[in-house]
Amino acid sequence: MNQGPDTVFSRATTANLLVTGGAGFIGSNFIRSVLSRVGFSGRVINYDKLTYAGNLMNLTEIENEFGGRRYFFERGDICDFENVKEVLARFQIDAVVHFAAESHVDRSIFGPKNFVETNINGTFTLLEAARELWAGRKDVRFHHISTDEVFGSLGDTGFFSETTPYDPRSPYSASKAASDHLVRAYFHTYGLPVTLSNCSNNYGPYHFPEKLIPLTVLNALEGKQLPVYGDGNNVRDWLYVEDHCDAIWQILLKGRTGETYNIGGECEKQNIEVVRGICDILEELVPVDSNEKIRKRSPGIKAYRDLIAFVTDRPGHDRRYAINCDKIKTELGWKQTYDFEQGLRETVAWFVRNTQWVEAVRNGDYQKWIETNYFGRTR
Ligand code: NAD
Ligand code: DAU
Repeated sequence: MNQGPDTVFSRATTANLLVTGGAGFIGSNFIRSVLSRVGFSGRVINYDKLTYAGNLMNLTEIENEFGGRRYFFERGDICDFENVKEVLARFQIDAVVHFAAESHVDRSIFGPKNFVETNINGTFTLLEAARELWAGRKDVRFHHISTDEVFGSLGDTGFFSETTPYDPRSPYSASKAASDHLVRAYFHTYGLPVTLSNCSNNYGPYHFPEKLIPLTVLNALEGKQLPVYGDGNNVRDWLYVEDHCDAIWQILLKGRTGETYNIGGECEKQNIEVVRGICDILEELVPVDSNEKIRKRSPGIKAYRDLIAFVTDRPGHDRRYAINCDKIKTELGWKQTYDFEQGLRETVAWFVRNTQWVEAVRNGDYQKWIETNYFGRTR
């Protein structure tokens, strides 16, 4: 039941979008970016379970500006078929933009079960609900957000393209690979109008501080160790989150049904370079001698770089990721707008500035904040 290669989602600009995982890092940036687009007049329904990684503080100004009119939050699990179906029907959803996932590789090593549950069963459940409710409609879209990690690990040369065979190495990447296969199977078998994207490492505002960049910034500000796994020479390709959000929008607008698009920063960096880069930016923004916390906790520290500690490597640590994103550039006209130096500087400055958000996330209060400020109030 293939659909022909050139079908686009022609109603993108006025669609009711179900954004799964919209309270997370990339999902919340996507919601902010799509609602501020001049060319978009539709509604956004943020469907999120609010796990440890879901934080509605990421969207306070969106709730204030658009809440109840063009933005709605629905707390729910993507594994809950009846709830997903009810929400799809109630909001007359035209497109699912599927971010919700367990996203942290280290957590998948220590506890893979949630990853199988959410990333595989959750994606399956969403696909089933969409298939049942859309019942063969072709004027709808299911966009699945995936990762470059499904392609495995590169040596010193080469790039992942859309046709690189899958070779996932961690429970996280294996679960994302499985979900990608399910999405493609629903296109080929049932004709569900899908698109997919596989993206490299994102960074930017609202990044949860278990990941390398925000962890390094926040640990450094507090005078804590900056853990660098192994020899620090593993390479990641970094993309500013706004550029990822724009790429997803271009796919919704112009992407062809059944197609996969690789998205990348074309910006390879060794982890140690990234960590040193952050230290140097912090040195300008919050010089070590002016940092009270460092004076108290680590009085011997003369520069942020002194906090760097090489620690035991991540098991199965992929050595290098690098993306060839020529397809989305040539076919959809997308390109990155941030260079890494600019993006990293803005990101570090954002974490330095947003002390309330940082404090709430660091001490776990963001979850209490959600209960009192969000669920505790009437609209
Ligand atoms: P995140 O961990 O910051 O956010 C995940 C969100 O999903 C959270 O809000 C969480 O509450 C929600 N969620 C988790 N389980 C759920 C469930 N069962 N039901 C409903 N909601 C649930 O993740 P992120 O970094 O924003 O990544 C978003 C997506 O992008 C993921 O699919 C990830 O695989 C993919 N991706 C991430 C990156 C990156 O660098 N962060 C790169 C490429 C692809
Ligand atoms: O490539 C895309 C992927 O990027 C996404 O699919 C994942 O959801 C996202 O979490 C990210 O995965 P990584 O494992 O690459 O990101 P993380 O920030 O955890 O680690 C980046 C690199 O830094 C990696 O080589 C491991 C290393 N690292 C990480 C942490 C948390 C350290 O050296 N020290 C650390 O403390």
